[in-house]
Amino acid sequence: ATTPQDALYRPTIHFTPSTGFMNDPNGLIFDGHYYHLYYQYNPYAPYAGHVHWGHAVSTDLYHWQDLPTAIEETEAGEAYSGCAVLDRDNRSGLFPPRTSQNPQPGAATTAAQEAAQDLAPELQKGRPVDLTASEREVLGIEPPKDGLFHELPHPVAEDISPAPMDTGFPPMAGGLVALYTRATPQRQTQYVAWSPDGGQSFIDYTKNPILDIGHNSFRDPKVLWHSDSGKWVMVVVRARDHKVSFYGSFDLLHWMHLSDFGPAGVIGVDYECPSLIEVPVEGEGKNDTRWVLFVSVNPGGPQGGSITQYFVGHFDGERFEPEDTVVGLTDFAKDSYALQTYENMPGGVKTYFAWLNNWQYCEEVPNKKWRGTMTLPRQIVLIRDEAGWLRLVQNPYRLEALRLKALPFNKKRLPQQSSTQVAIPVMQAIEVLLDVTIEDRGTVDPDGDQGRSGRFAAIFSNRQGESLSIGFDAFSSQMWLDRSNLHGFSHPFFTGSFSSPLVPGSKRFKWRIILDASTLEVFANDGMSVGSALVFPTNPLEALTLQVTNAAATLHHVEIFPLRATMNR
Ligand code: FRU
Repeated sequence: ATTPQDALYRPTIHFTPSTGFMNDPNGLIFDGHYYHLYYQYNPYAPYAGHVHWGHAVSTDLYHWQDLPTAIEETEAGEAYSGCAVLDRDNRSGLFPPRTSQNPQPGAATTAAQEAAQDLAPELQKGRPVDLTASEREVLGIEPPKDGLFHELPHPVAEDISPAPMDTGFPPMAGGLVALYTRATPQRQTQYVAWSPDGGQSFIDYTKNPILDIGHNSFRDPKVLWHSDSGKWVMVVVRARDHKVSFYGSFDLLHWMHLSDFGPAGVIGVDYECPSLIEVPVEGEGKNDTRWVLFVSVNPGGPQGGSITQYFVGHFDGERFEPEDTVVGLTDFAKDSYALQTYENMPGGVKTYFAWLNNWQYCEEVPNKKWRGTMTLPRQIVLIRDEAGWLRLVQNPYRLEALRLKALPFNKKRLPQQSSTQVAIPVMQAIEVLLDVTIEDRGTVDPDGDQGRSGRFAAIFSNRQGESLSIGFDAFSSQMWLDRSNLHGFSHPFFTGSFSSPLVPGSKRFKWRIILDASTLEVFANDGMSVGSALVFPTNPLEALTLQVTNAAATLHHVEIFPLRATMNR
């Protein structure tokens, strides 16, 4: 039965499962036609357990169509987190040859698998393998023009043919391959599986596991094609050892250990869900990039429980070298975890989804029919900040497309100690854009609790007296996010308020706030600081107040957009 909370807390533009419990995003890939979103999923109950891979597809990362679970729990264990890659040229040999007589692949050819097996010793050397013509033939790989094993198996989106879901079968030799962890209490090992139907279902390779180090906390493989060294690279964690391990492969079946990274940054208890991605550095030399290694840590994050840390550096195909000793956190609040980046995004854009939750309370939140929400899809770049550090900058991906008519608002200034209120639509997502300077009040003498140089707040409230505030203190150039005056959920770990420094010495800030039922995301100063928080008011928030204390505020820009619902549940 559905409770009022199930409806009240269900977001309208964020992905949620229709029923059951969802955690990490998995297998994020664009196949040329569809964006796939697989996810850790218990279809039976609103608690973690019996983990399957849930599945949804979209053409814009906002409108999602549910599909049946793609990978099931089996006697071999639960289907823990992992990734998907497009093995376009059938380098794995997992895909049977396709002919017009045999458009739908059946079982994988054992010849291809055996050929791959024979190559294992070569692969162990860790260098591009020059395959013989017959090996290539068996593996179904076209000889590359330069005779080396270098070209990209997954091309840019434009030249990928329509996905098999539409056309019966793709003209490519291969297809989608999933790499994931099979987990039992005793053992965690890496599995590979190929999809005969464009990602709707996966068939396990007959010789799984493909990686077993006799460990019970070895999980969450994320694989990328490293074009410079012409091989696949897997990042995977030895969770309890605080290690990220790198492995290399030419066929997705045989993996060679390359290096380890860590412990680094936050130690916590477990390292989980690593992601490695090459990200453009904005505003520097043309085509300047760095590699970013994301590592989720749980529990033990500075804000409590689960957090995602990242390192900026260089990756040569074998080893990740951080550029400095800096560790970044993706979020200043505590509800953004297990971030995974998208493979194969069109136009070289880099995006990710994270799970908008925290292991400290995800199984006890007040909605029960369904549990678990993804963040908005977020685009990432690196930007050098005022102090010279490369920082991750995150912004919602193409959210503008969902904007409805802006609510009327024409104030340009808030006089000292004043506020203004706007009614906002309930049960609809809302986006608030603000660019504000707190004006000089001529003195910084302490004055009560109103802020030495003034404070500004955007406050969402309801008639029940609940409020959610996002604020800025001009004296310290810090912002806050305070969810403590919402009364729908109380839990010892569900802490109330979070803060982040913005530009030191500056009294100007920009916010992009998205409130959608039980989710709040704030992107400050064009995505330099991001806060993600679950919010549980007992009744819908129905007004937005902009308020300044102890000073006046110039409103350079205020826009308030209701957002068109994309998830009709
Ligand atoms: C992270 C995690 C992963 C694991 C999965 C199980 O949230 O603990 O390490 O693969 O969840 O659902």
